[in-house]
Amino acid sequence: MRHLLSLFDLTTDEIQDILKLAAELKAELQAGNRVAHLANHNLALLFEKPSLRTRVSFECGMSQLGGHALFLGQDVGWGKRETPKDFSEVLSEYVDVIACRSFKHETVEQLAQYSSVPVINALTDYSHPCQALADVFTIQEEFGELQGRHLVFVGDANNVSRSLAIACGKLGLRFTLACPASYQFTAEEKAEIESGCGDFEFTHTDDAMQAVADADAIYTDVWASMGQEKEQKQREQDFAQFQVNEELMAAAPGHAIFLHCLPAKRGQEVTDGVMDGTQSRIIAQAGNRMHAQKGLLVWLLNS
Ligand code: CP
Ligand code: NVA
Repeated sequence: MRHLLSLFDLTTDEIQDILKLAAELKAELQAGNRVAHLANHNLALLFEKPSLRTRVSFECGMSQLGGHALFLGQDVGWGKRETPKDFSEVLSEYVDVIACRSFKHETVEQLAQYSSVPVINALTDYSHPCQALADVFTIQEEFGELQGRHLVFVGDANNVSRSLAIACGKLGLRFTLACPASYQFTAEEKAEIESGCGDFEFTHTDDAMQAVADADAIYTDVWASMGQEKEQKQREQDFAQFQVNEELMAAAPGHAIFLHCLPAKRGQEVTDGVMDGTQSRIIAQAGNRMHAQKGLLVWLLNS
């Protein structure tokens, strides 16, 4: 039994197997076949933070696979009515898999510690592995090969950029984080990513214009993540020069695509012109959340 708490939990081969399954399941769906690969299986969704994409893609994906998803609200008393151990042990008597979105990463670790079914991280402050799986799947659809591609993340060291860095490290892409120096990964955080991935080109810079010069994908995220609302104003000042706009896209090769995990704050980290421009793949990327997670669910439960 396996969990997915961060992409450190998967080997390169395993990520590739999941991406292959995702592609097969997407093709199967597009051909009009909804095959019950997970007939009568149940997925519990436990969310401490809001969500559109993650929640709905898990619910619809599970239904397409012949299974069922339960979105558990406050009334189950998660973290309030009983100990995490009792909660997790009891929940895993009923369901086949749990997806959890929490503030603290320790929360999903604790669920996994006591669960007898796989636990999937549906975003914590530390990482967002399901997002990164969908993102590399989207880049692969665009370019065919991932090896040697260059992903430039214009934004802070956060859950999304950490997961993307690990995905790049494991799959042979170059990864550059472009942001003000004080928002980059600490030396310890960078070393953790590098030691979990083996040798790869992982660069920090505060020169976004130069970073995108040979980019294949330019990615951004909100300047203040969920839980950082109090820092919003300060971050708006600090990141003002790090907007993904038409000028930045013009400094990148013409084939470069634009990605964003969404939700976006249009006019802040990205302009309308880039969001809606010809290089943008944001809608396909969001759609791929479902296909990648279906690949993950089938891999976790059927292999
Ligand atoms: N990208 C993402 O995880 O979106 P939601 O917060 O809407 O789930
Ligand atoms: N970094 C963002 C991602 C949202 C999908 C956040 O944690 O709010």
